[in-house]
Amino acid sequence: MSDKAAKKAEKSINNSSKPVLGLATGKTFTGFYKKLVEKHNKKKISFSNITTFNLDEYVGLPSDHPESFHYYMENNLFKDVKIPNQNYHIPNGTAGNLKKECEEYEIKIKNAGGINTQFLGIGENGHIGYNEPGSPHDSRTRVVKLTEETQKNKKEYFESRKVPEKAITMGIGTILEADQIFLLASGEEKAEAVKKTVEGPITKDIPSSALQKHDNCTLIIDEEASTYLPKT
Ligand code: GLP
Repeated sequence: MSDKAAKKAEKSINNSSKPVLGLATGKTFTGFYKKLVEKHNKKKISFSNITTFNLDEYVGLPSDHPESFHYYMENNLFKDVKIPNQNYHIPNGTAGNLKKECEEYEIKIKNAGGINTQFLGIGENGHIGYNEPGSPHDSRTRVVKLTEETQKNKKEYFESRKVPEKAITMGIGTILEADQIFLLASGEEKAEAVKKTVEGPITKDIPSSALQKHDNCTLIIDEEASTYLPKT
């Protein structure tokens, strides 16, 4: 899965003079970023002209907190690929004015010319980014409340500290504006969400079902995550 996705990223990066990538976090993407660092070290890709936008960030976590997505991106990718500081963007979850931060994030994406290739993971409840069930399919970058289920799923990463209750996330409408989308999913725990993404009704209850409306969206999934899909 990581290898296939990294090859798609390499193609997207090398097909454009100023590629704009949408990036995700979570355990699904650690292998993907390892492959990108390898490709960078072998000079197959360069990050000097790449602009990136991350899907989401927790509200209230300092960027050096080990569970912040800033920390995740710095340690899984940015520290190894010499991406210029001004070229990567992650929502600022500690901004004084969160509403303004969200509005400015949307403007930064537009000013970059929009996202060419968006990489997504998926939550067990079908969330994409942190668009939880009930998120409108035309939603924009905004502060959202995390569901209890999501907080429970993330508990293991926060040990003693309380899991944040809110996050800033790119909206589903924002995500759907990308030229192309790759959704990665790995493991049996994502199989139900994958099935609903592909075959379920397009409904606000399953945020990822909105992807059925996109004309260039590909799932890159492993065997376990495909458990409930018909075997072709
Ligand atoms: C997190 C992130 C999503 C991520 C998903 C899956 O909540 N907001 O962007 O794709 O949950 O995480 P993991 O890959 O760790 O299963």
